Amino acid sequence: MVTGTCFADMGNNVTFIELEEKKVEKINNAMPPIHEERLDELLRKNMERIKATVDYDALENADIIFICVGTPSMEDGSIDLSYIKNTAEKIGEKLKGKWKTVVVKSTVTPGTTEGIVVPILEKISGKKAGRDFGAAMNPEFLREGKAVKDFMNPDRIVLGVMEKKSEKMLRKIYEPFHAPIFITKPSTAEMIKYASNALLATKISFSNEIGNLCKIMGIDTYEVMKAVGMDHRISPHFLNAGAGFGGSCFPKDLRAIVSMAKKKGYEMELLNSVMNVNEKQPLRMINLLEKHIGKLKEKRVAVLGLAFKKGTDDIRDSRAIVVIQELLKREAYVSAYDPLAMENMKKMFGGIEYCSTINDAIKNADACLIMTDWDEFSSINFSIMKKPVVIDGRRVVKDKRGIIYEGICW
Ligand code: UGA
Repeated sequence: MVTGTCFADMGNNVTFIELEEKKVEKINNAMPPIHEERLDELLRKNMERIKATVDYDALENADIIFICVGTPSMEDGSIDLSYIKNTAEKIGEKLKGKWKTVVVKSTVTPGTTEGIVVPILEKISGKKAGRDFGAAMNPEFLREGKAVKDFMNPDRIVLGVMEKKSEKMLRKIYEPFHAPIFITKPSTAEMIKYASNALLATKISFSNEIGNLCKIMGIDTYEVMKAVGMDHRISPHFLNAGAGFGGSCFPKDLRAIVSMAKKKGYEMELLNSVMNVNEKQPLRMINLLEKHIGKLKEKRVAVLGLAFKKGTDDIRDSRAIVVIQELLKREAYVSAYDPLAMENMKKMFGGIEYCSTINDAIKNADACLIMTDWDEFSSINFSIMKKPVVIDGRRVVKDKRGIIYEGICW
């Protein structure tokens, strides 16, 4: 949605091919099917250049085709390529007439574009990549919630190309974004995506590990990491300690790269540890909770924040899920609140109370856990709780007067 809408904003004609009729209808009515800052405004503005359809015939007029389908995790951590393969087959059937460049934008493990997508396109179309059509890999580095902003202001554009014609076409559509363009091979582009996410996740687990030690030693980890981040070789970003990383990308991408490495005979020790630290981190919230209120059986615990981060309704791999599972296992009553993500969480947990306000969630609660960095959690009146025990997993609470406050790493 973001890629297409932003390209339309740059003057390109964009057709979305989507299998779900409901989403197609929404897009054609200028309503984005996902929550993303500024997307509705941009979609409305560019509707004359945008259309959506379920019909793959629309590919026949395309110059560039972006594959943006999901690549979910499988049991062993490797990625499920079935959507990619199906899409490549459908595209292969339409590789007729003028030159078309097929670009993989989905996050795929190194080797997928050249080793899986191109052979399917060639087999189905009977044509030859590089001679009759183009193929490329162009990873995205967009943060959910800020994806439009990130797309419009990229640090770099990575293009993994196999021939000059596709490079030229892609350079042209990315020219208006005024970002450095990094040209490489498809497999290198695929690895750049994984390496970027793995390093960002490593920064977070590293900060959490330092934070856990700082907590034991009575040192403020935020002060420590602020000074650490002032070193230009490190940068101040992604050094916030807390309940760990969630979302649809970091956990899945780490699992995928570790699992791929294992299949190649290499054990990724550092990234395995990054995942281990992240899995244990939310459980520290439970330990701190028990330290203050003892056994959790039949205690009322409020969980504030269900989304994996602020600004989204996405709960995929959210740290709140791990915490709620643990609370339910210990037979606590859970009252939950999130400004956007409650509908999604309802599909996962039935046995908890979903509250429409923060006050409803914390009223008469024995303790409260803060799992997402929503701004509205910074100044809450906790006096309506049974016991004002607040365990903060995101360092958002500003006013600590009259409460028993405990930060996860501070
Ligand atoms: C991440 C990357 O930041 C994007 O560059 C990438 O394009 C995207 O994955 C993807 O692969 O598609 P996203 O998953 O939207 O983006 O979320 P982030 O803003 O990176 O946050 C991920 C998680 O890390 C959140 O749970 C957040 O709370 C946590 N986090 C982030 C920390 O715990 N500490 C930090 O300092 C930063």
